[in-house]
Parts: sequence; structure tokens; C-alpha cells
Amino acid sequence: MSAKKEGDGGWKSFIWNSDKKEFLGRTGGSWFKIFGFYVIFYGCLAGIFIGTIQAMLLTLSNYKPTYQDRVAPPGLSHSPRPEKAELSFSMKDEGSYSAYVKNIEDLLVKYNEEGQKDTSKFEDCGDAPQAYKERGELESSDGIRKVCRFSRELLKECSGKNDKSYGFSDGKPCLIVKLNRIVFFKPRIPASNDSIPEAARPNFQSNLIPIHCSSKREEEADKLGPVDYFGLGTGFPLQYYPYYGKLLQPHYLQPLVAIKFQNITKDMDMRIECKVYGQNIDYSEKDRSQGRFDIKINIKS
Ligand SMILES: *[C@@H]1O[C@H](CO)[C@@H](O)[C@H](O)[C@H]1NC(C)=O
Ligand SMILES: *[C@@H]1O[C@H](CO)[C@@H](O)[C@H](O)[C@H]1NC(C)=O
Repeated sequence: MSAKKEGDGGWKSFIWNSDKKEFLGRTGGSWFKIFGFYVIFYGCLAGIFIGTIQAMLLTLSNYKPTYQDRVAPPGLSHSPRPEKAELSFSMKDEGSYSAYVKNIEDLLVKYNEEGQKDTSKFEDCGDAPQAYKERGELESSDGIRKVCRFSRELLKECSGKNDKSYGFSDGKPCLIVKLNRIVFFKPRIPASNDSIPEAARPNFQSNLIPIHCSSKREEEADKLGPVDYFGLGTGFPLQYYPYYGKLLQPHYLQPLVAIKFQNITKDMDMRIECKVYGQNIDYSEKDRSQGRFDIKINIKS
């Protein structure tokens, strides 16, 4: 009986010892101190955590990715972009190329003149290649910057104005090419005509990043036929650079180049490589879309 009472008392007095006024073995003051310690301790941890994140955020810009140097030189992309880089169609069968045509149309809709009328957003930047168009510092208080107009009409035969099939129905397909956007990147033109392959030289003029397509296999060079380049010059004009990013130039239009293969040999796989040239445009074995692209065109007559 007494043993049981003692045991009972031991357990009860651990929870609440009325002699010493202890709860779970500690007095109120002791509990208060330990509670206070943990509040301060976790408060400091949270403070350090928030502080480091805030300090890191301070070093980031709203306008420009901090580490975009790792995505390095611009990719060259094209529409249509068929699967396995293989553009294969039959001139007589509209269904075989309708997806390609739609792909081009979807891209060019953004370049309709009607969409570029607002003079608070768009401005004319000349109809010949010109020097970079600086629009102030990224971090300045200037806010939204204007962008240069780029009308699809510049793409002439490949504008879709007169030829709704973009040359596909005649076996003279158009490709629409653009350089991927990189905030504040300024492509630099080739140092001179001597620094680019001879075949690309006719496409080079000042203030322009030239583009040139050639047969991938030298022995097939004569099967490519003439290639026309339409746009604001035969490449990417510099007045469209630098790009200020999505926040400051929400209406930015990348300059386009339309490539039209005027007499490509039919009924064979024609392997073509298109390349842009510039001092800060490199090519990589790993990333085959950097500064160039490959495409295989097979037109069934
Ligand atoms: C490069 O050479 C072509 C002719 O091959 C010429 O039309 C063009 O003006 C030259 N460009 C420059 C920047 O010298
Ligand atoms: C197209 O190329 C073929 C040879 O591949 C040639 O016989 C023909 O004359 C060329 N057509 C035009 C319009 O240049």
C-alpha cells in the first residue's frame, strides 16, 4: 500500500511537485528562461536565413540574369523546325507541307504591320543596317523602352503576302531564321571580309551579322542552287541590339532573315548548314544550334 502510494506520488510529483512548485521537474522561472532561450535562438537562425537571402537578392538584377554568360553565344533558330531537322515534302501534296506553312505563319503574325502602329511602343530604325541602338542603362529609371519595328514585308517573297505557301508549292521553300534573344548581348560583326569564308562575303556589309547557307557535303555544292536572303539586309542588322529584356522591352521583335532555296535539287536528301558570322559568335560541337543550324531538305517533285 505504502509502496504503491510512494510510486504514485513519484509520478504525480514529477508532473507537478507542489512542494518545490516544479512542473515536469522545472520551476516556472526555469521554464520561462528555457522558453526565452529557444525563442531567441530560433529567432536568430531565422534572421540569419532571411538576411542571407536578402543579401543575395540585392545582388540580382530585375532586368538581366546574373549568370547568362553560361548560356553563351546565341542560338540560331528557324521556322519551320521539323522533327529530326528533316524538311521533307512533296510539291504537289499540300498536306505534306501545310504544317510547315502554319509554323511560319504563326511566327510572322507577330510581325504584321498593324500590330506595330503604336508610336509609344514602336519606332522606325531605318531600312538599312545601322549601329547599335542604345536606350540607356538597364537599371535606370527610364522604364519601358521603345523597340524597332520589323515588318514581315521585309521578307519579300517569303513574307506570305503574295505567296501563301512560302514557296513550298513551287519547291522553293522559305525558312525564317532568328537569333535567340540574350539580354544586353551585342553581336559583333566580323572583323573584316577576310575573316569569314569566301562564300559568305557577299552577304557582309557594315552593321550587319551576315548569314550564309551552304551544302554540308562539298561534293553536293552544285545541287543546292541559288539561295536568296531577305530581311533588313542579308543578315541581322545591329540596330535591333542590345535587347533590354522582357520587362523593359515587352514588345521587342527579333530581326528575321528569310532564306529561300530557289532551285534546290529534288528527290534527294540535301544537307544544308546555315551559319551566322561575328567576332563574338562561336560554334560548339556539343550545341549544334549555337550560331548555326543543320537541316536536311528533301523535295519530292
Ligand atoms: C565584303 O565583300 C563584299 C563583296 O564580296 C562587299 O560587297 C562588301 O561590301 C564587303 N563588306 C565589307 C564590310 O567590307
Ligand atoms: C535549276 O537547276 C537545274 C540543275 O540542277 C538546272 O538544270 C535548271 O536550269 C535550274 N533552273 C533554274 C531556273 O535556274
